[in-house]
Amino acid sequence: MIKMETIMKMTRQQRYRRIEQAQPGELDLLREQVSRCPWRQTFHIQPSTGLLNDPNGFAYYQGEYHLFYQWFPLGTEHGLKYWYHTKSEDLVHWQNVGIGLEPGSPYDSHGAYSGSAIQKDDKLYLMYTGNTRDENWIRHPYQCIAVMDENGRIMKEEKPVIHSVPDGYTDHFRDPKVWAEGSYYYCVIGAQRANNTGCTVLYRSTDLKEWEFQGEIITGLGDFGYMWECPDYFELQDQGVFIFSPQGINPEGDRFHNIYQSGYLMGKPLNTETRVFEHGEFQELDQGFDFYAPQTMVAPDGRRLLVAWMGLPDIEYPTDNSGWAHCLTLPRELSIREGKLIQQPVKELSKLRREEFTARHILRNETKMFEGFSGTSYEMICEFSAHDAEQFGIEFRAGGSEKTVLKYDRIAKKVILDRSLAGQAVGEAYGQVRQYSLDASTLKFHLFVDTSSVEIFINDGEEVFTSRIFPDKMSTEIRFFASNGSAELDAVLWNY
Ligand code: FRU
Repeated sequence: MIKMETIMKMTRQQRYRRIEQAQPGELDLLREQVSRCPWRQTFHIQPSTGLLNDPNGFAYYQGEYHLFYQWFPLGTEHGLKYWYHTKSEDLVHWQNVGIGLEPGSPYDSHGAYSGSAIQKDDKLYLMYTGNTRDENWIRHPYQCIAVMDENGRIMKEEKPVIHSVPDGYTDHFRDPKVWAEGSYYYCVIGAQRANNTGCTVLYRSTDLKEWEFQGEIITGLGDFGYMWECPDYFELQDQGVFIFSPQGINPEGDRFHNIYQSGYLMGKPLNTETRVFEHGEFQELDQGFDFYAPQTMVAPDGRRLLVAWMGLPDIEYPTDNSGWAHCLTLPRELSIREGKLIQQPVKELSKLRREEFTARHILRNETKMFEGFSGTSYEMICEFSAHDAEQFGIEFRAGGSEKTVLKYDRIAKKVILDRSLAGQAVGEAYGQVRQYSLDASTLKFHLFVDTSSVEIFINDGEEVFTSRIFPDKMSTEIRFFASNGSAELDAVLWNY
């Protein structure tokens, strides 16, 4: 009975309630549902109740990493968004701090939407989009500032710093990402032109308070979707990297199969005067099923780190009936190799390693399991050198009729992730297989498996497949296989 009620969609009024407007017992009921959910993660950032989406305000301040996320506490739909605050000393163990930004002022009455953080004068400035809706439910976005002090107290500035949308753009105007360069601060904002095409605009400021509209970032993409969300710009190894999440891109061969995309352009550093960005092809950041709205920051040792939402908008997930939805990805270190953005799990994650198991074997047209290779939460690296097998790889979170399959097809020269038998289905309308062309004779699969997700780094971060999976808790097997020939395996697993 109770379950039926919670599965029912919320009305708009219910979705736009503040946390203190919850019915008596409503949050307890959600917490109780969450506690019974078989898919709670063990080493990923996830919400205590409700829905998590974009990472926000990722920064290092006063000796700690701060990472906020978009949060609707009262259900698994996209309702009234808060910023939830987490922090960590090591990028591995995250502490839930509490609400970072609450919506509700005249300039963020309908949500404290995504944004970023930058340190200035010993304070951490949070710049975010205040989402408002008028009586006709028309959006009016404002770009707002809040300031966090040394004691972790966050105070919103009363007035927005960008009051209106410039001419030529619609009310889809959000997600400021700030950086400092020379004597200026810059920010990029995701936008939609009046002709319903997506783009990104640039602003400039000397003090983070007065912002001057510069114009669009001029790319060579032309019409490329109807909205670009969550832009990010940075320079790495003398290259300019421009990340954004476009909506409205059609599938093309093996590319662009998720409901919305997330990728980057790379080229010469952005000319902030002309705003011209010369770049190569748009490349997806991730080949998996669940990855969106990434945000980057610079660690104190200079590493450029990225975290993303391990989920997508407008898709139902199997945990929705359990009162929570989504998690963030693990933090990844970025670098550039041969014109490509490389993502590697941050080295700190090795702290999670406990018992270690290894296996070496020549797989000859067989499927094989090894002592210690099983579980629901582990890190595993397996290297396969092809002899003459047509396909080789692994089945993991396997048991009964369930399995998630990761393999290399040596004939097609593709890495393939198949979640069609992974467990409870998700996003079926967008296909259950993802593949990526890669010509290599040795394949290194580096996996981070948590209760309901997998992040797979291929050949030292050349590609990543990030996906939620919803298997039975008894599906713990890991099976290694080679078909139509042989392949040499060298594997190591650490229990988490
Ligand atoms: C991306 C996004 C952002 C927006 C936020 C609202 O997932 O739609 O554009 O600021 O989520 O939660």
